[in-house]
Amino acid sequence: MAQIIDGRLVSQAKREELKNRVKALNDKGVQAGLAVIIVGNNSASRVYVNNKKKGCDEIGVKSFEYALPEETTQEELLSLIENLNKDSAVDGILCQLPLPAHIDEQAVINAINPYKDVDAFHPFNVGHIMIGDYTFLPCTPAGIMEMLDFYDISVSGKKCVVIGRSNIVGKPMAMLLLKENGTVEICHSRTENLKEECLTADILVAAVGKAYFVTADMVKDGAVVIDVGMNRNEEGKLCGDVCFDEVEKKASFITPVPGGVGPMTITMLLENTVRAAENYKR
Ligand code: GUN
Repeated sequence: MAQIIDGRLVSQAKREELKNRVKALNDKGVQAGLAVIIVGNNSASRVYVNNKKKGCDEIGVKSFEYALPEETTQEELLSLIENLNKDSAVDGILCQLPLPAHIDEQAVINAINPYKDVDAFHPFNVGHIMIGDYTFLPCTPAGIMEMLDFYDISVSGKKCVVIGRSNIVGKPMAMLLLKENGTVEICHSRTENLKEECLTADILVAAVGKAYFVTADMVKDGAVVIDVGMNRNEEGKLCGDVCFDEVEKKASFITPVPGGVGPMTITMLLENTVRAAENYKR
């Protein structure tokens, strides 16, 4: 039976550290602030944004919410971002994705001041991640690395297979594993013999976005299995990309959904926000 990697536990430890850093900033007269933008009525986005705001409250970061209607134009959104870029009370800017179809997401990401880009989505920060020289950490992959470290799971020399090649998770995840000397492979929807590729993994990261995609026959005995999925099953229950009940019997470590990667993603967003406030040129 696998040991459960408890994302809530690792989060708590990290958030205690962040609270102290926020207090140290307060002592210098600095109040860290995060602007959170949400456009339209995506219910999953609303839940994520509420959790991000709750995280800010918990560690003493001030959050500013901008909830904009679905019909908001790209120009209006870019103009808000321009104002937030100049606002000295705002250390970090987060625009929740996805955006409505009439808005060009990359144009919005590109408009955020890279020094306030706490998602690390701007090409400037993506470039830094590629080089391994960070201003900001990509939140979900960085949260996964924190969990591996907390449980003393070494990456060096291990075969790491990442399923999914998104800009938010798959690609930056591969970079962080590579930086820790993993031997990294990225698989995706066009990968041939996916099952055989997954079976080579000592560390398997599932970032597919499909409920119960990873089954036990795709997992090597003793593998570490990280589930980035956040799906709803047929009964509307939250579930991951991994068939937890069967894979748990084969893996050495596994992250549950909920309570695994999710809490860590928000914690690393908070880390980036505190880091932005610490670095902000006032
Ligand atoms: N949508 C899904 N995940 C994320 C994330 O990490 N950041 C933002 N801004 N939007 C998202």
